[in-house]
Amino acid sequence: MNILAFESSCDETAVAVVKDGRTLLSSVIASQVEEHKLYGGVVPEIASRRHTEAISNLTGAALDEAKMTLSGIDAIAVTYAPGLIGALLVVVNFAKNLAYATGLPLIPVHHLRSHIAANYLAHPDLKPPFLCLVVSGGHSHIVRVEDYTRFTVYGRTRDDAAGECFDKAARAMGLPYPGGIHLDKLAQTGNPQAFRLPRPRVEGCPHDFSFSGLKTAVINLLHTAEQRGEIVNHADLAASFQHTVCDILSSHVLAVAKETGDKTIVLAGGVSANSGLRARMEDLCKQNGLQLYSPPLSLCGDNAAMVGAQGYYEYLADNLADTSLNAYATMPIENA
Ligand code: KG4
Ligand code: ZN
Repeated sequence: MNILAFESSCDETAVAVVKDGRTLLSSVIASQVEEHKLYGGVVPEIASRRHTEAISNLTGAALDEAKMTLSGIDAIAVTYAPGLIGALLVVVNFAKNLAYATGLPLIPVHHLRSHIAANYLAHPDLKPPFLCLVVSGGHSHIVRVEDYTRFTVYGRTRDDAAGECFDKAARAMGLPYPGGIHLDKLAQTGNPQAFRLPRPRVEGCPHDFSFSGLKTAVINLLHTAEQRGEIVNHADLAASFQHTVCDILSSHVLAVAKETGDKTIVLAGGVSANSGLRARMEDLCKQNGLQLYSPPLSLCGDNAAMVGAQGYYEYLADNLADTSLNAYATMPIENA
C-alpha cells in the first residue's frame, strides 16, 4: 500500500511516499529555517504562507522522486494535530482536496505518533509494545506504545519542552535559531561538570518533567556574570546544560522502564538527534540490559516519511477522516 504523506505542523513543508508503513519511496522537505532565523523563532503567519507556496510543487517532487503518479497512490495521510494552527490548516486543506479529487482514503495523523513511527522506517524488527521518549520543540513525553495506535503517557513536561529549553538556553548563549543543534556542537567541546545546574522535580509526579527552572538558571547565570563583568565559558555551560537535561530525561525513562518492565526503549522527536542524549541512553540501556532504538538523524526532525509510516497503521486501525477533517493546535496523543 502506497501512502502519500504530508507534514506542516511547524516550519517545514514535507511530502513523502511510503510503502506499507516501513519502506521509504521518497521524502522531500522545504525548510523555512533561514527565514525564521531572522526573527529568532518561528513567525506563524510566515510559516503558513510558505507552506501555501511550497505544497503543490513539493507534492510533484515527492511523486517524481518515488517514480510514480497519483495513480500509484492508495491513500493520503496528513498531520492534523498538534502544531501551529495556521500551518496545519494549509496542508490539511490541501490533503482534503486531493482526497476529494482522487477519491482516495484520507488518514489524519497525530504529530507525536508520527515522530515515534519514524523508527519503523529505520528498524524493520521494531514492533510495539515499547517505551518511548518523545522529545521535540513542543513536547516531552514518556509514552508506552501499547500497540501502533494505542498509547499510555507515563510522564510529560509541566512547562517547557526539552527542545524549547535547548533553544532558549542556546539563544541566551548567543547561538543562532534553532539553537538545539548548535548547543549540541558547542557542548562537545566543553566540560559537563563545570557548572552545577538545578534538576527540578514535580512534587507527587516523579516521572513528569519541569524544564523552565533549568532554562531560567542558565539565563540568570549569564546575566549575573555580565553584570559583574565576568566571562562565562560558553562551551562549559553548554556541556553542563546538555549533561543535566540528558541526565534528567534518561533517568526518568529508566525509572518508568523499571516500573513497566519494558525491555525495549525508543527515542523520537527533534531532540533525539542530540549526541549527548543518544550516548547516555546507549550506555544506560547497555548497563541495564535494555534494547535501544533511535531514528537516523535524517528522520529525527519534522518530515513526512514518518507521517506515511504512522498513517499506514492508522489506516489498518480504520482511523480515517472524511472531508470535514479539521486541524487542532493541541491534541493528546492518546485521543487522536
Ligand atoms: O521534532 P522537531 O523537529 O519539531 C517539533 O515537533 O517541535 O523538534 C525540534 C526541536 C528544536 O527545539 C530543536 O532545537 C531540537 O529539536 N533539536 C535538538 C537537536 N536537533 C534538533 N536539540 C538538541 N540537540 C540537537 N542535536
Ligand atoms: Zn516535530
